[in-house]
Amino acid sequence: MVSSVPGPLVERRPERRVVAPARRLVGVVEVPGDKSISHRALLCNAVARGVARVRNLGPGGDCQTTLRCVRALGVRVDQETDGSLVVHGVGLGGLREPEDVLDAENSGTTARLLAGLLAAHSFLSVLTGDASLRRRPMGRVATPLQRMGATVLGRAGGQLLPLAIRGGALRGIRYETPVASAQVKSALLLAGLHASGPTELREPAPSRDHTERLLRAQGAALDVAEGRVVVEGGHQLRAVDVDVPGDFSSAAFWLVAACLHPQARITVRGVGVNPGRTGLLEALEAMGGRVTVSNERVVGGEPVADVTAESSQLRGIEVGGALIPRLIDEVPILAVAAAVAAGPTLIRDAAELRAKESDRLHTVAAALRLLGAEVEELPDGLAIAGGARLRGATCHSAGDHRVAMAVAVAGLVADGPVTVEGAEAADVSYPSFWNDLDRLAER
Ligand code: S3P
Repeated sequence: MVSSVPGPLVERRPERRVVAPARRLVGVVEVPGDKSISHRALLCNAVARGVARVRNLGPGGDCQTTLRCVRALGVRVDQETDGSLVVHGVGLGGLREPEDVLDAENSGTTARLLAGLLAAHSFLSVLTGDASLRRRPMGRVATPLQRMGATVLGRAGGQLLPLAIRGGALRGIRYETPVASAQVKSALLLAGLHASGPTELREPAPSRDHTERLLRAQGAALDVAEGRVVVEGGHQLRAVDVDVPGDFSSAAFWLVAACLHPQARITVRGVGVNPGRTGLLEALEAMGGRVTVSNERVVGGEPVADVTAESSQLRGIEVGGALIPRLIDEVPILAVAAAVAAGPTLIRDAAELRAKESDRLHTVAAALRLLGAEVEELPDGLAIAGGARLRGATCHSAGDHRVAMAVAVAGLVADGPVTVEGAEAADVSYPSFWNDLDRLAER
């Protein structure tokens, strides 16, 4: 058995990367395993009965964090020589009291989904995270979990980490979340699996449904309709092997880079194209992007395809409403596309971006201005003038992986080199990003 491994005790060393403009962008790339699906493959199989193999788990810090937490809760997870992980499920309610604080580091998905599982266990656990995660809202999971019967205490009246959780016998509830959030939905579904009676969740717009797909494959009693899901508690899950597809949110950087660069063609192979994630494809199509999806297939209940993007003449668009949850993580890179596109782009209904790894409306607007774009920050979005010739500059990631990578892509199409301070942030989702960038960019 592999014992629990403590989290990193020191902050990572800051890194600076200089991205020079590319002469051409060409090639085929396989991006790392999907971060959202990886978390769920570990967490849902941890409380299933039986043994499951997880292949191509996301290599980034966030997924490693979930792995450490699951092990700290008494779940045996073996790493095979081919890199796959074998999860020995403990069954519903079978997690063990952790010896120490559980550290979700930078990962909101780890913290919120784990809170749902911990709420169903009658031991004490304390959940914390890094400086960024300790600023992010946790009341959105603490409040419904309290209503189900768990004791959840936290800073700022239960709004912020650290959270202290003593769970126990839960009762199903009907809950309407004010935000479309797959993390909130998934936390309640994981708690609801353990509750008496049905747990019903409604959200204002559909969010990604990876949890529903996996739980259904595991035999959970789920009833799903648009914007609403009900889980019946008390049914054991069976372990299910998961082949994690490439992460669409990582692929997004290359798709936009190829659309923006005048000499470009990039294929991302084997990437997840769950419709809850691919709003960027619709946005790019509306902007005139030349993006094609081919070789579509279904792997383990998730749609997978190869996606190719080529040099395009983009024009500005308006984005808002139900499309936002479907491209929520792609707004930083969409904003880079909009800065270069002809004509203005308006992004609305995206106030959620202020509660991500950084306040992304603010950090993205600040970076784009340094790069020479005209951007206005709105309370719930961005107004981007378009038509900018991006110039070399030094931008800071603000510790946010998606900002670091979006700025790097701007460097590939700018007039001069772009320096990314805090480039190490990319490691939480895409540690090989800089290698792939060097490989795809001809100089
Ligand atoms: C995620 C859901 C989204 C997303 C995050 C991953 C998930 O967050 O931004 O990167 O795996 O469930 P919210 O649920 O808070 O919108």
